[in-house]
Amino acid sequence: MTSKDNFEFAHAHRKEVAWMSQNTNTLPVHPAILDAIRASADEQEFNLYPRKAGVVGLSEAIKEDLRLDDVEMILTNGGIEGEYIATRALLKAGDEVLSTDPAFLPIHDQVAMAGAHAIEADIYRAPYVLTPEHALESVTPRTKLLLVIDPNNPLGSGYSRAQIAGLAEIARDRGLWLIDDITYRDFNADHVLATEFYPEKTLLSYSFSKAPGLAGMRIGAILGPPAAIQSLRKYDTNVLGVNVLAQRAALAALRTKKAWLPGVRRTCERNQETIRRTVAKVDGASLPVYPSKANMFVIDLAPTGVNPEAVEERLLLDHLVHTRAGSYLSKKHGGKFLRVSFTVSDADCARFAQAFPAVMDKLAA
Ligand SMILES: Cc1ncc(COP(=O)(O)O)c(C=O)c1O
Repeated sequence: MTSKDNFEFAHAHRKEVAWMSQNTNTLPVHPAILDAIRASADEQEFNLYPRKAGVVGLSEAIKEDLRLDDVEMILTNGGIEGEYIATRALLKAGDEVLSTDPAFLPIHDQVAMAGAHAIEADIYRAPYVLTPEHALESVTPRTKLLLVIDPNNPLGSGYSRAQIAGLAEIARDRGLWLIDDITYRDFNADHVLATEFYPEKTLLSYSFSKAPGLAGMRIGAILGPPAAIQSLRKYDTNVLGVNVLAQRAALAALRTKKAWLPGVRRTCERNQETIRRTVAKVDGASLPVYPSKANMFVIDLAPTGVNPEAVEERLLLDHLVHTRAGSYLSKKHGGKFLRVSFTVSDADCARFAQAFPAVMDKLAA
């Protein structure tokens, strides 16, 4: 079966499947978030197009969350739409974007849509991030933009303050745009924003999909200095605004963040420890990055000789555990690893722990 078929199967069995394939969050959301969605529906707020700038208080709450004042934003259908708008607005044919392999490759597809080209610096080796030294080796006169995914999807690696400062300096010296994709920021208590070092040309790609558990709501934002956001607006095709229920959910999530985020982080710690113990039982399997600074990491299977796509398929069809083979996330190393996300219930994680050694045993035979 292809990965697309696996998703069809997983959606058809949505209630029974342990959804560990998309770095989403299937833990119960805070009741205030559900209340906000229900109140908006009860009031039929959806009869009208929403206010383009967002429901009152939302953009302020996002800025407060980031502790930033002097930024503007476009609310978008998930962070991915903001990245599309930014790449479209900032890039032209022949430009290069310095990014990594592995990475969340759909952004590289967007770069290609603008006629530009993503240079994928290989970070599938320690320290599993794009160091400033490594970035310098890969920057060329055609480089227009530096894409930093921090924490990285799929590796779960996070950038240190010194690394972010170093990358920002490289961008400033060459006048590059810097997109700081902070989709997984909430999982890393030590996260540092590139804006701190390079406010002039840093854009932040912000998401409500992961830690607050709102992936299906499709809401996010692209933020940056006012002039830059103004120049992005002409590529914003969504002039009628973002789903109002999603906006209400997002606002409630930010207002209650102190109440739910610590619990989500504790679940991540517990589940990744369970997965670590499980992986240790399988000869040749290992975790390149542990602990993860996100809600996912990769399990390297290369020494086992087992194909990650076969593991994805058997885990799903035989055990109703949905994970993702590396080919979706890395051209060079995709055949070596399986990505597993762990913002799931203890019971779902326990199912993975029971199933993974059995599947590996069967496929290695
Ligand atoms: C690094 C990265 N950026 C952006 C996105 C898109 O997130 P959203 O759901 O906010 O569009 C994802 C989704 O997995 C991601 O991993």
